[in-house]
Amino acid sequence: MLEQYAELLKTGGVVAFPTETVYGLGASAWNPESVMKVFSLKGRPSDNPLIVHVSSFSMLEDFAVEIPDKAIKLIDAFWPGPLTLVFKKKPKVLDLITGGMDTVAVRMPDHELALSLISQAGPLVAPSANKSGKPSPTRPEHVLHDFGDDFPVVNGGECRIGLESTVLDVTSAPFQIYRPGYISKVQIKSVIKSHVSIYQQKPEAGTPRSPGMKYTHYSPNAVVRWLNDDDNFSKESAVYLLHDKEIKTSNKHLLHYHNDYDLLAKELYDRFRQADLQGVGEIIIEPFSDTIIANHPILHALLNRIQKAIGLSVK
Ligand code: TXA
Ligand code: MG
Repeated sequence: MLEQYAELLKTGGVVAFPTETVYGLGASAWNPESVMKVFSLKGRPSDNPLIVHVSSFSMLEDFAVEIPDKAIKLIDAFWPGPLTLVFKKKPKVLDLITGGMDTVAVRMPDHELALSLISQAGPLVAPSANKSGKPSPTRPEHVLHDFGDDFPVVNGGECRIGLESTVLDVTSAPFQIYRPGYISKVQIKSVIKSHVSIYQQKPEAGTPRSPGMKYTHYSPNAVVRWLNDDDNFSKESAVYLLHDKEIKTSNKHLLHYHNDYDLLAKELYDRFRQADLQGVGEIIIEPFSDTIIANHPILHALLNRIQKAIGLSVK
């Protein structure tokens, strides 16, 4: 079955496939028509560049012009895994992929099916397999919901991490995180033994360095907001996502994660999508204390996605 999907990719088709983070919408990175299809299927603006997915170091060398020593250390430590690296690109890399920039983002996913598909079909561009503006898909059903029941999806069940990869620019000094993910700043610093900065897009600052940051992601139709002191957990048309606070209530719309933040990250997008399917009006999330943030590396990425969803849901 995987051979058939690989064949479809090699002949210009688009196939969704699982990674350890979220499902990707895959197309051959060397075929401009296939890459175009990805943009039009998603409804994605053409200046938002795509990540190239590889299954070997030699595939990376076809895309990246300079691979700094510290990037090699990161590759040794974290690939295959949820860390995307932004390199200077080779001239032959399609402008379509990079949005006309002189850099290209590459990662090696930590998923057996993804690696096997890429080694058969060649390097694949793969944005998250959702329609632009919807939460990223973490289950095959999410992809089918956005693209139709007949859409080709390699079924790998639920994704292990559930939030998109960390995006790190290794062309700048210091290296800069464009998007926080499962691989944290602390982990990156401990491998390269030097400072890492977090890129902050200033609203007035023209073209962003990572164009994806300006677009709406991660947003359900329901309003997402933080729990506040006035909430009494009685709303029937809301979902409550708690993780620390102990509450006695019979409201079945209350879900408790018992300080399991990796599980909350893994299920967040599914909760967003389920709320929309059930017509729930509000998703109310217990805020995270500074201690929780300091003690759980996934919190940086989790907070980032929740804050985006909250920002976007101010309606
Ligand atoms: O976990 C993931 O990274 C998933 C799975 C499928 O691998 N993919 C994913 O792709 O999240 P996408 O297209 O939804 O997000 C890619 C992000 C965007 O924010 C984009 O702007 C940024 O990576 N990006 C891509 N190329 C870039 C480049 N050359 N420079 C800076 N940012 C880049
Ligand atoms: Mg995306």
